[in-house]
Amino acid sequence: MDDIRTVACVGIGTIGGGWAAYFLARGYRVRAWDPAPDAAERVRALIAAAWPALTQLGLAEGADPENISVHSDLAEALDGVQFVQENAPEVLEMKRRLLAEIDAAAPPEAIIASSTSGYSMTEMALEAEHPERLVVGHPFNPPYLIPLVEVVGGERTAPEAVEWASQWYEHIGKSVITMDREVPGFIANRLQEALWREALHMIANGEATVDQIDRSIVDGPGLRWPAQGPMLTFHLAGGPGGMAHMLDHFGPSLKSPWTRLEAPELTPELRDSVVAGCDDEADGRTVADLVAERDQAIIAIRKVMQHLGGSTA
Ligand SMILES: NC(=O)c1ccc[n+]([C@@H]2O[C@H](COP(=O)([O-])OP(=O)(O)OC[C@H]3O[C@@H](n4cnc5c(N)ncnc54)[C@H](O)[C@@H]3O)[C@@H](O)[C@H]2O)c1
Repeated sequence: MDDIRTVACVGIGTIGGGWAAYFLARGYRVRAWDPAPDAAERVRALIAAAWPALTQLGLAEGADPENISVHSDLAEALDGVQFVQENAPEVLEMKRRLLAEIDAAAPPEAIIASSTSGYSMTEMALEAEHPERLVVGHPFNPPYLIPLVEVVGGERTAPEAVEWASQWYEHIGKSVITMDREVPGFIANRLQEALWREALHMIANGEATVDQIDRSIVDGPGLRWPAQGPMLTFHLAGGPGGMAHMLDHFGPSLKSPWTRLEAPELTPELRDSVVAGCDDEADGRTVADLVAERDQAIIAIRKVMQHLGGSTA
């Protein structure tokens, strides 16, 4: 990993430009290609806008926003690169063709990752000659600030490529989830999408306004999620009995029409695996320990938001 110096961004819109800014801030040289005539101008503007935030977070030695070259030819952009991040529009046919072209032109040892929001690599890699080096590396906008990257291979991706990509993203400071199976929308997008669809249903049915929906998250459960995520949050909702009590107490509510998404049957196996998962994640911390941690996090976040002028009462 320490030998990597040069990476490529193919497609440099919102996400590709955000990745480029991040790679530059971590001290890499970026070679880019994008068919839009104004792509170079746009990416430079995006990098300039992101650079103060990246500087605030801390730049790697030698990081330079000028260390990017935008090429008029894809093969030229891929010349000598050691990693490729593909960020073209979310159109399956286009991704298939483009990944095959990248695969044909990139140095044979380079791993190629796609930023796709939901396609599987199995369906995107169909036209590529070397699908074994193609992986999904799904970021969140803006990729220069949000740490999460979800990594997953397709049916013909080599396990070593998935492992390499996960290590690479960790090496550059990302929080990586390596998935061992392809799931449409991956993990975080699926969760985000469930909330999004329910919100749209509520607006369509006159059940809530846009403002009420946003405030319900910003001043409500959104304050807990940065500290513990939705599972451990509910572990604490169970009081000293934790998730086991939570599920036994509120399990029957899964039958209530509290959302349009149908709940799975709360079988003993599902109950036990959720309880065991929370115990693993708690890693010896009692519910009281976790409550204290959560409270400190919420106080800190509320203070920051109040300072920034956002409402958290
Ligand atoms: N926007 C998000 O929040 C988000 C988050 C995570 C992942 N993604 C994924 O990232 C990818 C890019 O999305 P975006 O939001 O940056 O879109 P965007 O429209 O901002 O950027 C797409 C870029 O691709 C370029 N492009 C068009 N045809 C191309 C081709 N054949 N080859 C290479 N580049 C081409 C466009 O000129 C444009 O600059 C998509 O797969 C999307 O699903 C988006």
